Amino acid sequence: MEKTFLMVKPDGVQRNLIGEIVGRFERKGFQLVGAKLMLISNELAEQHYGEHKERPFFGELVDFITSGPVFAMVWEGENVIAAARQMMGATNPKDSQPGTIRGDFAVIVGKNIIHGSDSAASAEREIALFFKEEELLSYNKLI
Ligand code: CMP
Repeated sequence: MEKTFLMVKPDGVQRNLIGEIVGRFERKGFQLVGAKLMLISNELAEQHYGEHKERPFFGELVDFITSGPVFAMVWEGENVIAAARQMMGATNPKDSQPGTIRGDFAVIVGKNIIHGSDSAASAEREIALFFKEEELLSYNKLI
């Protein structure tokens, strides 16, 4: 079954949006298989955002993501990678539709509440960066 990595960023945690965000994915029908509230080290931030290293905002991005607790999660389900991207809305909240997480709660691109893997390859890489195998659970849904 497909898995994706989602993370409520420091702005989402500070704004008490963890429950709102977890609730949206629960109600959609996806399954939470791993989660933790954590601080991201500079080293982990630079690895996670490695593809943005040459961007002018890279320093800002690392400073922001390490500025306070994040809520890291792994979700499982049919087509969950693309579906979660749809539910998050466009990266820049200026372009994200009402009804999406960023469309409903964010205003600027640097503080866009949530991160989600953009492909199967990113999901695999990001899950491995943030979670040990034994931190991911496998369980049957009873309902
Ligand atoms: P995310 O999905 O976490 O992946 C990379 C992040 O870079 C993105 O969300 C944005 O929060 C951030 N980002 C993109 N463009 C800018 C920008 N111009 N200034 C600051 N941050 C940006």
